[in-house]
Amino acid sequence: MARRVKSVEQSIRETDEPAHRLKRDLGVWDLVVFGVGVIVGTGIFVLTGTQAATNAGPAVVLSFLLAGLTCGLAALCYAELASSVPVAGSAYTFSYATLGELVAWIIGWDLLLELMLGAAVVARGWSAYLAQLLDLPTWAAGDAARPDLAAIGIVLVLGLLLVRGSKLSSRVTGVLVVVKVAVVLLVIVLGALYVNTANWTPFVPPAQPAPEGDASVLHQPIVQAIFGLEPTMFGAFGVVAAASVVFFAYIGFDIVATTAEESRNPQHDMPRGILGSLAVCTVLYMAVAAVITGMVPYGELNTAAPLAEAFDSLGITWAARLIALGAVAGITTVILVLMLGQTRVLFAMARDHLLPPALARVHPRFGTPHVITGVVTAGVAVLAGVVPLEALSELVSIGTLFAFTVVCVGVLVLRRTAPDLPRAFRTPGVPVVPVLGVVACLWLMINLPLDTWIRFLAWMAIGLVVYAAYGRRHSRFAHGLTEPVVGR
Ligand code: ALA
Repeated sequence: MARRVKSVEQSIRETDEPAHRLKRDLGVWDLVVFGVGVIVGTGIFVLTGTQAATNAGPAVVLSFLLAGLTCGLAALCYAELASSVPVAGSAYTFSYATLGELVAWIIGWDLLLELMLGAAVVARGWSAYLAQLLDLPTWAAGDAARPDLAAIGIVLVLGLLLVRGSKLSSRVTGVLVVVKVAVVLLVIVLGALYVNTANWTPFVPPAQPAPEGDASVLHQPIVQAIFGLEPTMFGAFGVVAAASVVFFAYIGFDIVATTAEESRNPQHDMPRGILGSLAVCTVLYMAVAAVITGMVPYGELNTAAPLAEAFDSLGITWAARLIALGAVAGITTVILVLMLGQTRVLFAMARDHLLPPALARVHPRFGTPHVITGVVTAGVAVLAGVVPLEALSELVSIGTLFAFTVVCVGVLVLRRTAPDLPRAFRTPGVPVVPVLGVVACLWLMINLPLDTWIRFLAWMAIGLVVYAAYGRRHSRFAHGLTEPVVGR
C-alpha cells in the first residue's frame, strides 16, 4: 500500500477550495507582533524567579540562552518549511507533506497539548494576576476559584474576537504587545539602576542535594531516573534543568507558522516573522534574568510574581503595580494567539477529513473558521474553568518539544524527497542544524519529570486509538480524494 504522504503542491492547491479559503491579509509586522504576543507571557513573568531560586541561581541567564538556542535551531527548520509549505496547520501540515498521514495525525493530536492545554494553563495564570491586580474575591478568580470565572470570561471574549478575523485580533494584539514590551523594557532599564553586582556571585551556585519532597521518583527528570542519579539542585545540571523549564517561555514562535496561509507573502515574511520574534524575545529574556538576579539575592525570588516583587522589595511600588498590569495585558495576547493557532491546526485536520469536515467551514463574511473557533473556545473555557492546570505546564512543554523534533526531521526528509521544491528560505548547515535541533529538543525532553512523560505517552496512545477509529477511514486519502506521492 502506498504511504499516505501528501505532495506539497496538493497541500497548496487545497487551500484554494472556495469553501475553505482563508483571507490572506497578514504582513511581516503582523507576524512579528503575533510572535512576540504569544511568546512573552507567564514564562518570563513567573519562571525566571522560580528557576533562579531553585535550579540555576543567576545562571538562569544561561538557561534562557540554552533554551533560546534550542528554539533557534528548531526555528530555522520551521522557517524553511513555513516558507515552502505555506498552508495553515504548521507542524501538522509539514508532517503530512514529509512523513505521511500517521505522523501528521500524531503531531496534530500532540499540538492539542501545546495549544489547547497551553491556552488553558495560561488563562489560569492570567486570572491569578488579575486577582492580584484588582484584589478580586477568591471565588471569582485565581488559584482557588472553581470554576475560575475570570479565566472562563477571558477565553470567551477572545473566542469572539477570533471569529471576527485575524486582522482585528492582530490589531488588539498589537496594542497589548506594545504595553507588555514597554513593561519588560521598564524592568530592564529601571532595574539596571538597582543592580548590586554582588548578587551575581556565585553565578552558578554549587550543586546540592534536592530536598526530600522534590526527590519523589515520579517527579525527577527521567534522565536521573534512567541513570539512577542522585536528585540535585543547582550546579551545571541545574542550569540545564532550568533550561527545560524556562523553555515554556519561548513557546509560541512556532505558532507564527500556523498562520502561513493568511500571510500575504509567506515565502518572504514567514522566516522573518519566526526568527525575528524569537531573537527579540531571547534578548529581552536574558536581560530581564540578569537584572532581576542582580537586584535581589536569587534565593528570594521563589514567588508567584517575582518581577513585581523584586521592585516591591526595594520600595519601588509604583513600578511593581505597573509590572502587574503589564503581565495581565501581556498574558491576554498569549491566550489569544494560542487559541488562534489551535483553530488553524484543527481547521487543517478537518479539511483533510481526519476530523469531521464540517468543522472546517469558513464564515462567509469574516473569512474565519468560525465553527472550529467555537469548538476550541468551548474546550479551552471548560479546561481553564475547572481543571487544576498549573501542574500541567510541563505537559505543554513536552508536547511542544516533540513537535519541534518532528519538524527538524521533516526538513531532512523533504530535502531528500523534494530536492527541487522552491524554498524561499533554506535552513543553513543541513544536515547539521536539523540534527542538532533534534538532539537539543530530546535533551530538554529527558530533563522533564517522569510523571509528565507518563501523561504524555498516555495522551498519545489515546490519539492513536482515535485515528484508528475515525481518521484512518475518513481521510481524503481513504476516499481517494488525495493522491499519495509515488516513489517515496
Ligand atoms: N511562552 C508563553 C508564555 O510564557 C507560553 O506564557
